[in-house]
Amino acid sequence: MPFLSETLARVKPSPTVAVSQLARELADAGKDIISLGAGEPDFDTPENIKKAAIAAIHAGKTKYTAPDGIPELKQAICDKFQRENGLSYQPSQVSVSTGGKQVLYNALMASLNPGDEVIIPAPYWVSYPDIVRLGGGTPVIVDCPMGTGFKLTPDALEAAITPNTKWFLFNSPSNPTGAGYSWDELKALTDVLLRHEHVWVLTDDMYEHLAFDDFKFCTPAQVEPKLYDRTLTVNGVSKAYAMTGWRIGYAAGPEVIINAMRKIQSQSTTNPCSISQWAAVEALNGPQDFLATRCDAFLRRRDLVVAGLNDCAGITCPTPEGAFYVYPSVAGCIGKTSEGGRKIENDEDFATALLEEKGVAVVFGAAFGLSPHFRISYATSDEALTEACDRIKSFCAGLT
Ligand SMILES: Cc1ncc(COP(=O)(O)O)c(C=O)c1O
Repeated sequence: MPFLSETLARVKPSPTVAVSQLARELADAGKDIISLGAGEPDFDTPENIKKAAIAAIHAGKTKYTAPDGIPELKQAICDKFQRENGLSYQPSQVSVSTGGKQVLYNALMASLNPGDEVIIPAPYWVSYPDIVRLGGGTPVIVDCPMGTGFKLTPDALEAAITPNTKWFLFNSPSNPTGAGYSWDELKALTDVLLRHEHVWVLTDDMYEHLAFDDFKFCTPAQVEPKLYDRTLTVNGVSKAYAMTGWRIGYAAGPEVIINAMRKIQSQSTTNPCSISQWAAVEALNGPQDFLATRCDAFLRRRDLVVAGLNDCAGITCPTPEGAFYVYPSVAGCIGKTSEGGRKIENDEDFATALLEEKGVAVVFGAAFGLSPHFRISYATSDEALTEACDRIKSFCAGLT
């Protein structure tokens, strides 16, 4: 009898975590590495949020809490959905977990049975297919190439739906492409979903606040209120409030799924960290004006990186609507050989050679289900980004 679970064979370790780890190890060994792999803002958590956490510690808010969140945080989340998305929820329709990742994990563990399919547009956030497999479901990957702006078309969605489809997993603005769906684009998708009453919508709105130019964020239950009763809207404080380490994510939706998620959570992590929950109350209820300032900084960096990459031979980089990622194509580099002698047969070879020869860590596109591309997280300083673009340019110029 094997010692390890058969479930383990269905999942891979996160490639983005692996790239960041490798970059850290090379840097620790004295190499000059620019790490553009990690998906987290370089900004610090705002002072008022830190103070709220410290106050919570002093006030003794250091004990177990209700499994899926303290009432104060659930209310703050209801207020946020009303204020920012025009969505009306009661606290009984809200679940708080240890990061957005655990929210998704709970939702899928609580709802999937063998044979259930989850539609995932590719490129996708690396964890989606693996969490679906952990839950015993089957990911149904739908390619969304650069030519369609990395966006799912209504026809492709229609074609992917079967009687076994349980969820449509939607993410806008997207990790890894930064693509954001306009109201009309999303409405075209929700029109398809209206025709298939057995399909639920799992929308991951983690990058809501990172929206650029004239792109306006919108979410499925807002665009099509008739989907409210079968939509779970996921969000969190990790990216917008620079709180990745605090581990607070949340969702709102029908009580049937919220109650099931509570049951899973009560038998796994019990509750999200009490101190982080109080910090999240302040994040959601406190001043929001810094979000726009930070967004401006990300916009400047986006423009810097898009221009820098489009100046590299063999690379084409579209301009994303949001998040803090770009997802350039390296189609023009495939088949060439690097100065260090590596044949670039795919995007993983490209990323490996770039790291080894120029010290720039990026994540290869195959990890996100669409090649030949790579992802850059530009949530780092302008200086590091400028230097990284120079190194990528020199790497590409050396390809023969
Ligand atoms: C699209 C998307 N969803 C969810 C998450 C998970 O967020 P958290 O750190 O709150 O678990 C991430 C983090 O990278 C993400 O990019």
